[in-house]
Amino acid sequence: MAGGMFRWAAPVFARVGSRWSMGDADALAQTLAPYVPAGGHLLDVGGGTGALAARLAERLEAAVTVLDASPHMLHHAEGLPGVTPVGGDAEAMPFADDAFDAVLVSDAFHHFGAPPAAAREMARVVRPGGGVVVLEPDPAIWAVRLVAAAECLAGEPGHFMKPRVFEELMRDVGVEGVARHQGKASYVFVGTVGGEPAPREATS
Ligand SMILES: C[S@@+](CC[C@H](N)C(=O)[O-])C[C@H]1O[C@@H](n2cnc3c(N)ncnc32)[C@H](O)[C@@H]1O
Repeated sequence: MAGGMFRWAAPVFARVGSRWSMGDADALAQTLAPYVPAGGHLLDVGGGTGALAARLAERLEAAVTVLDASPHMLHHAEGLPGVTPVGGDAEAMPFADDAFDAVLVSDAFHHFGAPPAAAREMARVVRPGGGVVVLEPDPAIWAVRLVAAAECLAGEPGHFMKPRVFEELMRDVGVEGVARHQGKASYVFVGTVGGEPAPREATS
């Protein structure tokens, strides 16, 4: 289960839900659209307050389920149009196999206590050919390592992974994809469940 950090952080996240601009949501919706048709099903793991999920539900015209371990975060997702909040752990999801067209994890993967178990679950609940999209900070950047140290002090696991390491983790569970930098400090991994190995491109 998620540590206590999100008990006190929930009101902060609820207030700064606008950290996800319409532009951010548009860009993510474009990345997810090849996997999630109108009327399809997206899972947002560690989706917190549901602020991003609500924007994606509107953009994709899809149903978005937010799975989160913190009732304090999830509370803010209640009643959002197109969003179904569900309490639970990324490492043992309360969903059937192949239940979703895609899974999104935004700024949450490093909070999961057991990354290989979470990766296995993400691959299990997405249909073959479905999508896996993960936004993460890159610990190659010193500022991210500072954040990681602060999170560890707050009792979080701090499982920050470099892009190549993340790709390997997903490949091990049958998700082929590529992590590309987005700005200096973050990357976005886009993969397909049971997909073909993607051509390697130079990344910064
Ligand atoms: C930094 S917040 C990110 C929230 C949202 N995805 C966003 O981008 O604004 C991380 C979220 O991951 C959730 N979380 C942490 N560990 C989890 C776990 N094992 N299973 C499910 N959710 C978890 C926390 O409760 C928190 O809501």
